[in-house]
Parts: sequence; C-alpha cells; structure tokens
Amino acid sequence: MAIDTCIFDAYGTLFDVTAAAREAAEEEGFEALAETWPAIARDWRDKQLQYTWLRAITGDHADFWQVTGDGLDWALEANGVADPRIRDRLMQFYRGLSAYPEVPAMLGALRDAGRAAGILSNGSPEMLQSAVSSAGIGRLLDHVLSVESVGVFKPSSKVYDLVGRAFGCEAGNVLFVSSNGWDAAAAAGYGFTTVWVNRAGAPVDRLPHKPHHVLDDLTGIPALAASL
Ligand code: LAC
Repeated sequence: MAIDTCIFDAYGTLFDVTAAAREAAEEEGFEALAETWPAIARDWRDKQLQYTWLRAITGDHADFWQVTGDGLDWALEANGVADPRIRDRLMQFYRGLSAYPEVPAMLGALRDAGRAAGILSNGSPEMLQSAVSSAGIGRLLDHVLSVESVGVFKPSSKVYDLVGRAFGCEAGNVLFVSSNGWDAAAAAGYGFTTVWVNRAGAPVDRLPHKPHHVLDDLTGIPALAASL
C-alpha cells in the first residue's frame, strides 16, 4: 500500500472555523455580530495564523489557545465589538467546533480500507481533545498530534517530524491533507504527498512547493489514497 497513513490538519480542514462566529451571531443577545461576523471570522483567522508564523520565527512560542484569543481580540477591536461576553462566547465555541459533514464517513472509509489516520495540528492538546470529542470522531483517529510537544508552530519541519515518530511510517507513505494552502505546500516540501482542500476556490499559493492534489472537500480522500 503506497499510502498507509492519512494525516489531517484540524482547524478549517476537519473542523469548520467559521462556525463559531456564524452560530454565535444567531444567538439572542449577540446582535452586535449580525453584520460583522463574516469580517470578524476572517480577521480572527488571519491574525491567528499570522501570530503563529511570527511566533515561530521569533521563537516566542505560546500555545494555540493564547494565540487564538490574541487574534480574536484584534478582530473584535478592528470591527468595533467591545463586549467581553461576546469574546467569551466565541472562545467557548472554538472548543466545540462542528466537523464538516463528510468527515465521519470519510474517516470511516479510511479505517475500513486499513489505513491509519490522525490529526497534526497547531491546536493545544486540550483544544484538540475537546473538538474531537464534540465532533464524535475520536474512535476513527489513531493519533491526535499537537505542536505543543515540539513547542513551535507549522510549518516548522519539527512539526511534520511528529508524524513519522508517532505512526512509525515513512514520509513517502503519508497523504497529508490541509485546507491551508501554505500547510499543504510546506508538507509537500517535507516529502509528504499532499492534498489542498480548497473549499473557497482560492488561487494556489506562490510558495516554493505546490500541493500535489486539490479537492473541493474531503469526500474524495479515501478514493485518492487508494489510487496512489
Ligand atoms: C491547524 C491550523 C493551522 O489545525 O489549521 O494546525
């Protein structure tokens, strides 16, 4: 079997990160989000990721919960939302994000085919554990790997090294799946076969490496893994 291990990024790939702001906006008392939630969700994600890259470059690691809160604080201020209850509610949502609808069946098909599956994420172990259990997908994952064990964010190669260590597999036998173009590109440079899940139809990132495959969602992963 050329591909024996399938590894997934978490936030935006298995879990819908726009859900937090979208769902909070529908709750009573959170009308301040009604018009601003798309901009808040976008700014939150942009700042969260930028802060991970900058902290990785400068060596100022802090866990993803802190960085997620810092990104949210920037996004709320930029969009004129100052209510601390909104901040607390959005952070609470982040612990229990929904998985995309195709995720359980897709992971089940990988398991039925005898492939190992896991998560490799910037998320802290506590955040990942709570997202995995609220999505009910824990029994379909062999390992949930957090960057906290190496103290630096993606796309450091130290993070991608965690896969071989945990699964005992070679990079050439790994299919790495991410909705972040930069993550799929860096993982391709590392030696994984990579899939970029491009739900938004965005252009391919101009980086030194390119994802090997581009899919609209995760439905085609089991068939792709079997074909390689
Ligand atoms: C993660 C972020 C990058 O889960 O989506 O690692």
